[in-house]
This record gives sequence, structure tokens and C-alpha cells, in this order.
Amino acid sequence: IPVETFDLVIFGGTGDLARRKILPGLFRRFLAGQMPESSRIIGAARSELDADGYRKMIADAVAEFGGEESSNTKALQTFLERLDYVAIDAKGDGGWADLAKLVRPDVIQAFYFSVAPSLFGDLAERLHTNGIATEHSRIVVEKPFGRDLASAHALNATLAEHFDEKQIYRIDHYLGKETVQNLMAIRFGNVLFEPLWNNHYVDHIQITVSETVGVTGRGAYYDRSGAMRDMVQNHLMQLLCLIAMEPPGEFEADAVRDEKLKVIRALQPIDNHHIVRGQYDAGPDSQSYREDVENPRSFTESFIAMRCHIANWRWAGVPFYLRTGKKMKARSSEIAVVFKDLGHTIFEGDEARHRNILSIRLQPNEGIDLQVTIKEPGPGGMRLIDVPLDMTFADALGDDAEEVPDAYERLIMDVIRGNQTLFMRGDEVEAAWRWTDPLIEGWEARNDVPKLYEPGSAGPEDAMMLLHRDGRKWRDIKG
Ligand code: BG6
Repeated sequence: IPVETFDLVIFGGTGDLARRKILPGLFRRFLAGQMPESSRIIGAARSELDADGYRKMIADAVAEFGGEESSNTKALQTFLERLDYVAIDAKGDGGWADLAKLVRPDVIQAFYFSVAPSLFGDLAERLHTNGIATEHSRIVVEKPFGRDLASAHALNATLAEHFDEKQIYRIDHYLGKETVQNLMAIRFGNVLFEPLWNNHYVDHIQITVSETVGVTGRGAYYDRSGAMRDMVQNHLMQLLCLIAMEPPGEFEADAVRDEKLKVIRALQPIDNHHIVRGQYDAGPDSQSYREDVENPRSFTESFIAMRCHIANWRWAGVPFYLRTGKKMKARSSEIAVVFKDLGHTIFEGDEARHRNILSIRLQPNEGIDLQVTIKEPGPGGMRLIDVPLDMTFADALGDDAEEVPDAYERLIMDVIRGNQTLFMRGDEVEAAWRWTDPLIEGWEARNDVPKLYEPGSAGPEDAMMLLHRDGRKWRDIKG
């Protein structure tokens, strides 16, 4: 889909996210022909740089984080010419007049707030008082969007003083991942799955986002957040919504977001004994979580597993098991829909409980895998075995596979195109906090101590028990 001419201003344009993700991503979109010639990217930050200094910084960032495309030096040069820079004081007057001169009122304007949320209000206000933003401007904000319902509500209110909801793009980069969007295609583009997608046929659903990295380098932020705020309230709940929502009437931003919101509102409170919090211990050659965050008394969780229920007709009685953790045995994100067993077999001697399992792999090796039961080959009679029908998208699509854009690239282009489908609406974010707040308050009030787990494992033993108690078991975490 073609893109119109735009001016993109990145507040925090010299920051980590801008250098690692946003600018290298924009360079790839430029290479893909999605940056019309007169479009501009304007970095805005505190540092006293000029445009050339900024171009140099971004050239280095693209070389470091941009992958093989960065070797295309001629194209990189043309891309860099489209960059500009303004030294700006978010809380004062400095730089705003310069920015006003650069941003054109007659093209698409997007303002990316890649800064601390405490600055959102100042930026939003100054964009207006300096006559820069128009009613067509878009703003992009990053997580964390608040740390509880009250702070998220306050942030929404601040932004709403200056921008309409239609202009606000709240990023959850999981929604930009290829397979996450494929979830909707699989569910609503095939006749096979949707008739079975309910409590008559589904036994339970597992959502796992497992990481091998620890929290070194971002300890101060992480220790105040923990896995619940950092991963569950946003990424895992978004996955849960896409798996559980009713089909929207059309593939349109509010139609999709209305359905997701209904799922969040239908989530039941969780009992304490259905939540397992963990913290990684020291390994033979790695530090413990507490050493990583330099807080010897930290009770923050780097792992969480929980059993949730959605109180509606479709899902009554179907547990959704969620887990996510750092320093786990592999980097692997998967959603597994485990169907019920047959309850009766016509094959004599077959006592196994065969189950169809649809597993949707987000990363690595994006694809889907359907476990089916077949006859074991050979003359041994009707012996049944379970085998995977594996479709790794890269193999299935072969040469036709376009290079999959990184989540950030895709989402930024959606901002320019004015498509909010893959962004969180204000009421969605607040509803998610409304559900997680009492859970967090509960363990904080109890001074709950997370269970230690070995780095490189699948999390604490209690997380295994969470499913064992229900006669189920977690899927293996495979990288
Ligand atoms: C971020 C979290 O939102 O997502 C990080 O703050 C986490 O803690 C990251 O590591 C995971 O993203 P991805 O794309 O690597 O799965």
C-alpha cells in the first residue's frame, strides 16, 4: 500500500529505541520504497547536535543494528539526507520555534514520543502552543503506558487534553509481529478452526513467552515493574485477546478493538494459588536477578505463570494458562490450543488420550503446527500415533516470501497510513490495568516472595504444579 509524504518527528531521537529499532527500521522501509522523496525524519532531543552530527549518529546506528541492508552505502546516504535534527527542551521554550519551521502543515505529521511518560504532557502541550500540531497530526507513544490504572488514566487524560483518540497510537510491538497478525488470518480466514474454537472442543490454551535474556542494563526500570507489568499487562494480554475474541464485524480498527476490550472485561479475578511468581537464581557463571538489579531484597518477579478464565459463553470452563520469564531455557513464544480428547475410541487396545494441538509459533521459526493422530505405519495393526503437520512459513512460502518487516517498521508505517487496528485504544489499556491491579496489590500486600528458579530452566517447580494439579502439562519450551 503506497505511503503519502510525511514528516516524522522523533522525540528522544538520540535514545536507545530510536537507534536500535526506529531508525534502522525506517531505513529498511526506505529501501522498500515506502518513503516518498520529500518525506523527512526529524530527530529531536536534548543533545546539542546539528543535522550532520545526527546523520553521523544514525549512520553508526544503522551500521550497528541495521543488518545486511546497512552495507548499501549509496542508499544509506540518500536516506540520511532526509534526516534533520532539532535540539529541544521538552519542558521549556528552547528549540520549538526551529521545529515549527521544519514541520510542514500540509503533509502527514507524526510525532513519536520515545521519551519518559512524564514528558508526554509537556510535549503534547508545546506541540499545540507552538502551532505545530494540527487536527490531522498523529502521536505515537510507547509502553510502559502507566504502572497501574490510576497512572494510565492520568496519562490518557493528559493526552486527551491535546489530541483526539483517533490521533493517538499506543504501541505494543507484539501486535506488529507477523504471526500475531496471522492469528487473525488463521482464525477468520479459514473454515477449519473457528467452528471448533470454543469450550465444546477446546480443553485449554497455553500462551508462553520465554526469553533467555536477563535484566542487566535495565534493572532500575525492571525492578519496579516485574514480569506482570512488563510483559503480561500488555503483550500476553494482547495475545490472549486475539485468541479469544469474537470475530469482529469487519477488519477495522474500532471493530477489532471493541472485541478485544470485551475479552479483557470478561477476565475473571484470579485466586492466589493460580499465580506462580518466580525470580531467577545465580547460575554457575551468571548472576542472580537480585545481583542484576542491585537490590538484595527485591521481591520482584522475573517469571510469572497463571491460570485465567474468561467468563463468557464461548470460553466458560476453559483455562488459559499464561507464562513468561527471563533467563529461561530457550527464546520461544508460542500459543497452543489444546483440543479435547475423543472420550471414546473404536481402536482396540488404544488407551492413549490423543489430542489435536494447534500451536502457533511467534518466534523463532514463525509458523503453525497441527498435531494430528494417524495410524502408525507398518503391519502391526491399528496402532495410533500423534504426528505434527508442520508449516514453517519461511519454508511454505519459499521464494514468494517477502522479507518480513520488523514489528516497529510495520507499526510506524501504519501510523503514517492512519491505520489504528494494531494499536491499543485508551479504554483497552485501562481495562487491562483494572484486571492486573488487584493481583499485583494482592501479592504486594502479602509481601509474597517469588520462588527461585535456575537460570536456563523452564521456571520454578510450582509452575509445573499449576498444570499438574489440573491433570495437564506445559508444552516443552524449544528454541
Ligand atoms: C519488551 C519488554 O516490551 O518486550 C522486554 O520490556 C522484553 O522486557 C521484550 O524483553 C520482548 O520483546 P521481543 O520482541 O524480543 O519478544
